[in-house]
Amino acid sequence: MHENLNKELYSNKLFKVWVDKYNLIPLEEYFLKKYLLNKNGKVIEAGTGGGRLIFEIEKLGFKKLDAFDYVNNMINFCKEKKKQLKSRVNFKVAEVNDLSYYNSLDFDYLIYLQQVLCFIDKEDLPKAFSEAHRIGKENSIYLFSFLNWNSKIYNPFLSILVNFFRILRNEKTSKYQLPWLNIGGRFNRKFLNRNQPQNSWFKEKHVRDLLEKSNFSVIEIKSKMSDLDKVGHIHVVCKKR
Ligand SMILES: C[S@@+](CC[C@H](N)C(=O)[O-])C[C@H]1O[C@@H](n2cnc3c(N)ncnc32)[C@H](O)[C@@H]1O
Repeated sequence: MHENLNKELYSNKLFKVWVDKYNLIPLEEYFLKKYLLNKNGKVIEAGTGGGRLIFEIEKLGFKKLDAFDYVNNMINFCKEKKKQLKSRVNFKVAEVNDLSYYNSLDFDYLIYLQQVLCFIDKEDLPKAFSEAHRIGKENSIYLFSFLNWNSKIYNPFLSILVNFFRILRNEKTSKYQLPWLNIGGRFNRKFLNRNQPQNSWFKEKHVRDLLEKSNFSVIEIKSKMSDLDKVGHIHVVCKKR
C-alpha cells in the first residue's frame, strides 16, 4: 500500500523534480569511475526516473545499457530523451520485485542508487534482492544505496512520535519506516496521519546484515565523501556470494 503511495508521488508531484535532475553527485561519480571499468560490460539501472544516471553512464562509453522504472510517465520521458540524445539505452516499465522480463546471469553492473530500495516495505526487500541477484553474472558488481538513519538527528524522535500514533491505530510497521516529512520541497502536514507515503531508513549494520542474508558480499561501504554530500545515503558496492 505504501509503495503505491510512493509510486503515485513519482507519477505526479515528484515527476518534474526528478526528470529535471542532471549530473552526478560526488559519491556517485566516485563509485561509477572506480567500479564500472569494463566498457563492454552490460549495465542495468533500477528506478531510473528521468534517466539521469544511465545517460551519464552511457557518456562514460558503455554501449549495452538497460534501465527500468515502475512509473510509466518516467519511462515515456526517458524514451523521448533517448531519441534526442540518439542513445542506445533500452527502457522498460518494471518493478524491482519482479524482473521476469530480464534474463538470469545477464548483467555485469547493476545500479540501484538514489533511494529506490527505500520505497519497498521491509518484508518485500528479500524478493527485490533475489531478483537483483538472479539477473547479475557471477562476477558482477552491484551499487546499492540506502537512506542513512543516522543522517537525520531527529529520526529517533520522529520514530517514537509516529509509532505512538501507529500503536493507537493498531498498525504494525517497522520503527525504521517513517513517513515523508517533505514532499517536493513542501512540509507534509499530514505526516502523522494513516496512509502516508513512507521510506525505510537503514543503519550500516542493517545494510550489512540484509546483504549478507541475500547472498551478497560487501566490497566497500561509504556514507559521505565530503561535506558536499549532505544527502545522507549509505552507498554499498557488492558482489554475489
Ligand atoms: C529518487 S528517484 C531516483 C531516480 C534516478 N535513479 C536518479 O537518481 O536520478 C527514485 C525512482 O525510483 C523509482 N522506483 C521507486 N520504487 C520502485 C520500484 N519498486 N520499482 C521500480 N522503480 C521504483 C521511482 O519511480 C523513481 O523514479
